Amino acid sequence: MKILGIETSCDETSAAVISGHKDTEDITLLSNYVASSMEIHAKTGGIIPEVAAREQIKYIIPTIDQALQEAHIERVRGIPDIDALAVTVGPGLIGSLLVGIETAKTLSFLWEKPIIPVNHLIGHIYANWIYPKEKITLPSLALIVSGGHTDIVIIHSHKKIQWISGTRDDAAGEAFDKIGRLLKLPYPAGPVIEKLANNGNPDSFFFPRPLMQEDTLDFSFSGLKTAVYRVVQSLEQKNAVNTQTVADIAYATQDAIVSVLIAKTMKAAQQFSISSIVLSGGVAANNTLVTRLREEILQRKLPASLVVPPKNLCTDNGAMIATAAIFQNNPIPWQEITAQPELYFE
Ligand code: KG4
Ligand code: ZN
Repeated sequence: MKILGIETSCDETSAAVISGHKDTEDITLLSNYVASSMEIHAKTGGIIPEVAAREQIKYIIPTIDQALQEAHIERVRGIPDIDALAVTVGPGLIGSLLVGIETAKTLSFLWEKPIIPVNHLIGHIYANWIYPKEKITLPSLALIVSGGHTDIVIIHSHKKIQWISGTRDDAAGEAFDKIGRLLKLPYPAGPVIEKLANNGNPDSFFFPRPLMQEDTLDFSFSGLKTAVYRVVQSLEQKNAVNTQTVADIAYATQDAIVSVLIAKTMKAAQQFSISSIVLSGGVAANNTLVTRLREEILQRKLPASLVVPPKNLCTDNGAMIATAAIFQNNPIPWQEITAQPELYFE
């Protein structure tokens, strides 16, 4: 089946066309177009929800049109030859979600096509099924690390996803972004911190790893932000904030976040019987996280393969939403589709 996926839960406006079959797990990405308002958010140092939604209203129709064109979808009397639409219904910013949802509902009504509601977090997981190097074997442990969420779930089957643990405060991506703000780095700061960390001295700073030694699979990152704040304040007083100290802080920040993510993932992997580990969300684009996790799996001789989506599919995109829809395939009448900003795992 061919699905048009629409994603507008945060600051991106994305549409994609995926052709695929759930049973054979044969997924083909026909197009994936992302319109970003990142430059505007970079100026304000973060997302202002109202601004994001206003931009998305401008982008949504051209984005969908572009995705259908790039996928060479034929139209008969203006109606594209697709089997269904899929749209993110939550979690996310209410104004942003509504832009995608109301557009998808209107198109579903006009084109007389079914519409499949998708949980954004489940969408992130399915980015792994777009270009897997080998078939992903279940049960799989998914680490979802994005700007808004940090969760561990077990995928028992495509119909049964069990939530295991999550963050008690900030998400991993949020920690990168908030620390980036303290360091006066542009938004989103995750990729910038990763780059700066390459020049950081590993011995300059060491930041706390909250809950790392404790017997819980939960995460906590707010204390890390406070620790960095104190260091930045003290450096400012000594007039010692410079390229090198910023790179050193970037190294220690990445090291702390990655160490905690790996420790909890390994702990969960040993507690549950799993055959694979899938990474997803914007922070999964971090090379240090992927490399260290791969090393750790080898070292501990875990009988689980590691799957990571290509970088452009780690961050928000319509392709992951369309792919999740292929596996979940639960169309509902357009009248019943509503935005669920607080949607989580069941
Ligand atoms: O999944 P995503 O695009 O949006 C949400 O659903 O939140 O994730 C965005 C987050 C941002 O916090 C960004 O700083 C972080 O992912 N991120 C990274 C990297 N690339 C994006 N964090 C660390 N290293 C990266 N290379
Ligand atoms: Zn996301």
